[in-house]
Amino acid sequence: MSGVLTRRQVLFGLAGVGAVATLGGCSRGGGNGVAVGPSAIAAAEAARASTGQIRDLALRARKVQIDLGGRTVTTWAYGDSVPGSALRATAGDRVRVAFRNDLPEPTSVHWHGLAIRNDMDGVPGVTTPEVKPGGGFTFDFVVPDSGTHWFHPHTGLQLDRGLYAPFIIDDPTDRGGYDAEWIVVLDDWTDGVGRSPEQILTDLKAAGASGSGNGMAGMNMGGSGSGMGGMDGGDVDYPLYLVNGRPTNDPQTLNAKPGQRVRLRIINAGSDTIFTLALSGHDLRVTHTDGYPTTPVTTSALRIGMGERYDAVVTLKDGVFPLVAAPVGKTGLARALVRTSSGTVPAPTYRPSELGAYPLTADALQGAPGSALPKRDPDTVQDLVLGGSMGPYVWTINGRTYENTVPLTIRAGQAGRLRIRNQTMMPHPLHLHGHTFQIGAAGGSGPRKDTVLVPAMGSVAVDMVADNPGQWMVHCHNTYHAAVGMMTRLDYVT
Ligand code: C2O
Ligand code: CU
Repeated sequence: MSGVLTRRQVLFGLAGVGAVATLGGCSRGGGNGVAVGPSAIAAAEAARASTGQIRDLALRARKVQIDLGGRTVTTWAYGDSVPGSALRATAGDRVRVAFRNDLPEPTSVHWHGLAIRNDMDGVPGVTTPEVKPGGGFTFDFVVPDSGTHWFHPHTGLQLDRGLYAPFIIDDPTDRGGYDAEWIVVLDDWTDGVGRSPEQILTDLKAAGASGSGNGMAGMNMGGSGSGMGGMDGGDVDYPLYLVNGRPTNDPQTLNAKPGQRVRLRIINAGSDTIFTLALSGHDLRVTHTDGYPTTPVTTSALRIGMGERYDAVVTLKDGVFPLVAAPVGKTGLARALVRTSSGTVPAPTYRPSELGAYPLTADALQGAPGSALPKRDPDTVQDLVLGGSMGPYVWTINGRTYENTVPLTIRAGQAGRLRIRNQTMMPHPLHLHGHTFQIGAAGGSGPRKDTVLVPAMGSVAVDMVADNPGQWMVHCHNTYHAAVGMMTRLDYVT
């Protein structure tokens, strides 16, 4: 690399080990480094509020052929379709998922957004053994958290194939107030159409090693795309963007009657794409993010990072309306059609004016009354510095890739604050397993979430309570960033 800075080159990268030690040293959770073991995990599970209801579910990962707008594509999926069929339970249920791996490679299943027992969290090498080809594993856990969640592998680049599905946890006290519910899963698609995920990563690394000028063909260098202010959305241009597994030339039609109120449960299952979502001719009333209720906010457009979920209620007008998701900083579109009566379908490339509105992000939301963590000063404050570059293609947390990470630590019962600082020129969706944090101070007005989109060169502080012992992943939800090292852990210590 010739010293030419790429747009995404880290601007204030940590100089090395010394800087990391300082960051960690100022605010460690303390403890003597003894990991919290199986008995603490079992005790936490026994203390979880449970309905006593057992729900037996089955799940199979397998190679499938799907139809993508007229082309037959071979990919990996849960069951027969992309997305896989939604799993559903009620908060407090004990869920037993009999999982079978019919893929040619080992895999894993992570239950994104569910603060379940650590040993069922589905992270090979950390929480749960990988599942070998032809093998199986029965996940068995109490689901504490209602809301729109989902699941996907925590193995290599498998998420960038078709391995994802919704996991909806109903809240028995939810009064509803809507006539229908639609799950809307967004994805960026390459498998079987463009390069394989492995080839994409090989190309990103090769381009990073050879410098920014050449070899970046097929890479998204950002800047000139459709994002607001040329916002840099991701590293990869995808051949297709999908809503519920369907491309724009063959969209799913969601049928309802004029005047009906519909709850949208929106999940961004993309690997490298932030989406801006809008429903032509309608406002969205956002009611939840990452499963937790918010004070409702009305917006024309909503920006969703990878791993994030938003629920919104819409009152439908009379006609046919594209529900579109525009990949931020990239060319292309994903869409479904909402139909309440006859009417003409706009062209597949149609971009409703709502997409031009300033999109809502989580920082504009407040948690609903009662959703805040108890007001409390943090016992431990820890820094998470997001760094990295396109050349070389390396992404880090606190200056280190995952193989060299120094995990964050916390003691059971402590209140923790994570100060996340993004020192790169692109946004990263940071995800914490096993917990839901509050944006801003505990007891404040920020929403509860498990994945937060940290703006380029921006920072976000979140508070959490150490109420779920174990070793938990903390990582960027960009599949390629995570794969090259943008992950660390939060380890409970005694
Ligand atoms: Cu949805 Cu560790 O991931
Ligand atoms: Cu990232």
